[in-house]
Amino acid sequence: MSKGRIFSGMQPSGKFHLGNYLGALENWVRLQHDYECIFSIVDLHALTSKYEDTRELPENIHNMALDWLSAGLDPEKNIVFVQSQVKEHAELHLLLSMMTPLSWLERVPTYKDKLQQLGSQGKDINTYGFLGYPVLMTADIILYKADTVPVGEDQIPHLELAREIVRRFNHLYSPVFPEPQAKLSKAPLLPGIDGRKMSKSYGNEIPYAASPDELRARVRLMVTDPQRIKKTDAGNPDVCTVHKFHKIFNLNQIDEISQSCRQAGIGCVDCKKRLAEQMVINLADIHVRRSEYEANPSRVKEILAYGNERARKMAAATMEEVRQAMNL
Ligand code: TRP
Repeated sequence: MSKGRIFSGMQPSGKFHLGNYLGALENWVRLQHDYECIFSIVDLHALTSKYEDTRELPENIHNMALDWLSAGLDPEKNIVFVQSQVKEHAELHLLLSMMTPLSWLERVPTYKDKLQQLGSQGKDINTYGFLGYPVLMTADIILYKADTVPVGEDQIPHLELAREIVRRFNHLYSPVFPEPQAKLSKAPLLPGIDGRKMSKSYGNEIPYAASPDELRARVRLMVTDPQRIKKTDAGNPDVCTVHKFHKIFNLNQIDEISQSCRQAGIGCVDCKKRLAEQMVINLADIHVRRSEYEANPSRVKEILAYGNERARKMAAATMEEVRQAMNL
């Protein structure tokens, strides 16, 4: 029995890293067993902050599909598709834009923050499309009448807005849409290799598609307890980035390793080696699936085409109802 219908999406920005996997994708893979799921590579959303150069978009979309499939998202069980290939997203976005007050959009906390943040990087996103980001997101979700939306904490204001838009639509025309609820994942936050938040813009990321040797190389660069200069110094795992990774990838050995670190037993080089080998083991299934799909790009294209087709059918049925409700 399905617990409900899920919609979620990710921007194909070409920056997918291990932190994104643990924070979101791994959760999706679990949810696919309990919910009816629709997952979208939201390329139109990627345009809202990067419209001036779109050359990498096709490659980024393909890579995101590889990321998802290699994580174990089942393209039969779930609908996996590309947002721009289902034109109903654009259509519903336009109709919702008619009834969404400007003030609702301007007060979304992430709006001014991001405008400033990207503005200081010399990016001009003072555009109509960027302001409408959450309206497009609302259209994504309600086009499939999804009731549950797994997202990160940062997306909560967008979900609140989505509910307000839904209430307004249902009130003005007729009750077509359910109010979608956010579902936060309880995944632990993975730091970058320097201990700060993992982000490609800091250069501290571990790419999700990293090969075993790349994984080992990234782990070797991790910062440890800065007070522990020599192997004979006692270490403090509580301030060590490698320790935080052991907590996620190597729970079985963590107690023994921490104790040994505190007693100046195990050195950082060996501690990192043990972590790296454990990460390689944990991510082995992903690597195997990824190389299979990598060797067969036309299969990936077929999977997306199939998902686009299934999404279109659902979206078109909803748009029938919307047009009728709005007398179009
Ligand atoms: N805004 C989401 C993010 O950046 C991506 C997204 C677009 C999304 N449309 C969505 C998430 C619909 C959930 C539902 O993470």
